[in-house]
Amino acid sequence: MGKALDGIRILDFTHVQSGPTCTQLLAWFGADVIKVERAGAGDITREQLRDIPDVDSLYFTMLNHNKRSITLDTKNPQGKAVLERLIRHCDVLVENFAPGALDRMGFGWERIQALNPRMIVASVKGFGPGPYEDCKVYENVAQCAGGAASTTGFDDGPPLVTGAQIGDSGTGLHLALGILCALYQRNRTGRGQKVLAAMQDGVLNLCRVKLRDQQRLARHGFMKEYPQYPEGKKFGSAVPRAGNASGGGQPGWIIKCKGWEEDPNAYLYFIAQAPVWKEICQIIGRPDWITDPDYATPNARLPRLKSVFAAVEAWTMTKTKFEAMAELNQHEIPCGPILSMEELAAEPSLRATGTIVEVDHPTRGRYLSVGNPIKLSDSPTEVTRSPLLGEHTRQVLAELGLSESEIVALEGAKVI
Ligand code: COA
Repeated sequence: MGKALDGIRILDFTHVQSGPTCTQLLAWFGADVIKVERAGAGDITREQLRDIPDVDSLYFTMLNHNKRSITLDTKNPQGKAVLERLIRHCDVLVENFAPGALDRMGFGWERIQALNPRMIVASVKGFGPGPYEDCKVYENVAQCAGGAASTTGFDDGPPLVTGAQIGDSGTGLHLALGILCALYQRNRTGRGQKVLAAMQDGVLNLCRVKLRDQQRLARHGFMKEYPQYPEGKKFGSAVPRAGNASGGGQPGWIIKCKGWEEDPNAYLYFIAQAPVWKEICQIIGRPDWITDPDYATPNARLPRLKSVFAAVEAWTMTKTKFEAMAELNQHEIPCGPILSMEELAAEPSLRATGTIVEVDHPTRGRYLSVGNPIKLSDSPTEVTRSPLLGEHTRQVLAELGLSESEIVALEGAKVI
């Protein structure tokens, strides 16, 4: 059947999480991803958070599926000569080094263009041009600098970071989209271009609705759907943290279910959607609220949402989150269980679609991973294991046209 990106070669200079997320996606869509790692060391995550001694960590294996690995010292003159050949050979160079590292290596944009004018050079950086452009950035720094932390958490608590890796994996996704657009444009122009995805920008893009709210707040001084409003709290000048309130015009909250005393995830997200208000009232045993002027309309309910969610909770606490969900779904009342990683790992439907996959690895054995979350009907994804350090060095160098004696010489000089 073939794959969407068959024939596209990626020179993958990524490490840690943001860049590898991007190149892993491209590999899943069929690109040949050649990961270049430091000779003798490799991507630092190979040894971070290890669960088995001397075996590539899950951190590494779960971000580097379907790639090939070569080791190359790109600061050595002989290594630079090999890198030149790789640049001529590939379509896209992807990197997420600290700012300026590629220039210091001697491979800035002009030099790469001189070697291969069709090459697309794609970068993740912490910040775009501006006062912070030289800073090194990790996930939580991006969450804080991109507006996520200031708008996450409860009003009376500190800013919070989220478990979803919106700074790293989120920016990797943004970069992958930029690369595909640049490849598409290259079909018309024949030229490569630079693609930049800054982590601050990516996080802010995902926090778009909060910038919407900033402007609403500036205009009116309050926002009715934020929990501060019914609680009579004063709004400040910046968008506050909204706890578990629903982002849009559908009031929602996280409520307890049966077993919450023991199980930290025995909770349900419940949305008091207006079109099913009647059904909600009937299920929770408050049919009087259907016509009560204090509760009958969404606007009347807004200042009373706490009592609404308390009544719903009194009902959900008599059911497990799955029982409550099954019953609510019968009446098309939107809700969702708080699923733990343990539950997700065991979820048969996610296994069936390949969103959770079991992968075999020669030194680690079998492990679970998240597969490709994007499904293409004509380009199915088969998740294969991450490469061992330098596993494909000889194979790739031979494809570049290096002879056996040249490869042996590079090995002798510890360039590869
Ligand atoms: N051969 C020789 N040298 C190599 C090499 C190779 N194959 N691959 C990398 N190096 C060198 C780089 O050239 C760089 O050298 P320099 O500092 O002399 O220029 C050096 O290794 C280290 O790279 P760097 O990116 O600075 O790593 P770091 O561990 O100091 O910083 C980050 C890590 C993530 C903070 C930084 O890379 C960064 O800010 N990246 C952009 C934002 C990002 O992606 N952050 C999220 C990470 S999940």
